[in-house]
Amino acid sequence: MSITQDEITAEIEAVEADAASLVAAGGSPELHPRRDYAPYRSTRLRHPTHELVRADPEEIERVSPAFGHSDVNPLESDLTIQHSGEPIGERMTVTGRVLDGDGRPVRGQLIEVWQANSAGRYVHKGDQHPAPLDPNFSGVGRAITGDNGEYRFTTIKPGPYPWRNHLNAWRPAHIHFSLFGTAFTQRLITQMYFPADPLFALDPIYQSIADPAARARLIGTYDHSESVSEFSLGYRWDIVLTGPRATWMEGEEAHD
Ligand SMILES: [Fe+2]
Repeated sequence: MSITQDEITAEIEAVEADAASLVAAGGSPELHPRRDYAPYRSTRLRHPTHELVRADPEEIERVSPAFGHSDVNPLESDLTIQHSGEPIGERMTVTGRVLDGDGRPVRGQLIEVWQANSAGRYVHKGDQHPAPLDPNFSGVGRAITGDNGEYRFTTIKPGPYPWRNHLNAWRPAHIHFSLFGTAFTQRLITQMYFPADPLFALDPIYQSIADPAARARLIGTYDHSESVSEFSLGYRWDIVLTGPRATWMEGEEAHD
């Protein structure tokens, strides 16, 4: 692997400059990554190269997995109580609302999260880098949004981790979010980041959203009113499903 961060950064900046020039010429801001986004190397082999085949969603939905509200225990939103001891790390809560493009709450929405532990390690066979696993942290949880579209997770802050996109590539700390929709065909996946991460400028996944305002919407805000004395720090992050302020959602090509 000989690609350097400087080369990746130059590619990132070239795409952003191209997108900005298209906006200056009257185009729309690019709220979602280009499918063929070279700085995120492996997507070049995974992204669709043909138009999608449109299928009858009703037929698919008849055989899709589904969930009932009673299937999700409220305790599943606390990632710090899944084992016999406390996980190591900075305890935090993440709360926010899921909204549609008109600002209306999206109720009864299944949200699933997964994340690395405080050392930046996933419990996954694909992650073998030499950071410790935490026997008290699995890094997965789920919740159902309430009447105001609200959700809340208790967890520990994930660490940044290396990946093999290029030499010395590190992902900014993030939590993966899945929104199930009302059927499997509607599932959306995105990532939440943390304020002032020094890795933002270097990360081809975060930077794959060419519009600066759109990618900034992936960053949660520190919310002191959500911090609990002697217990946890609070972060707030709203997810907007559609419209010009929509939260970026991953295509099927993204995995890291
Ligand atoms: Fe990740």
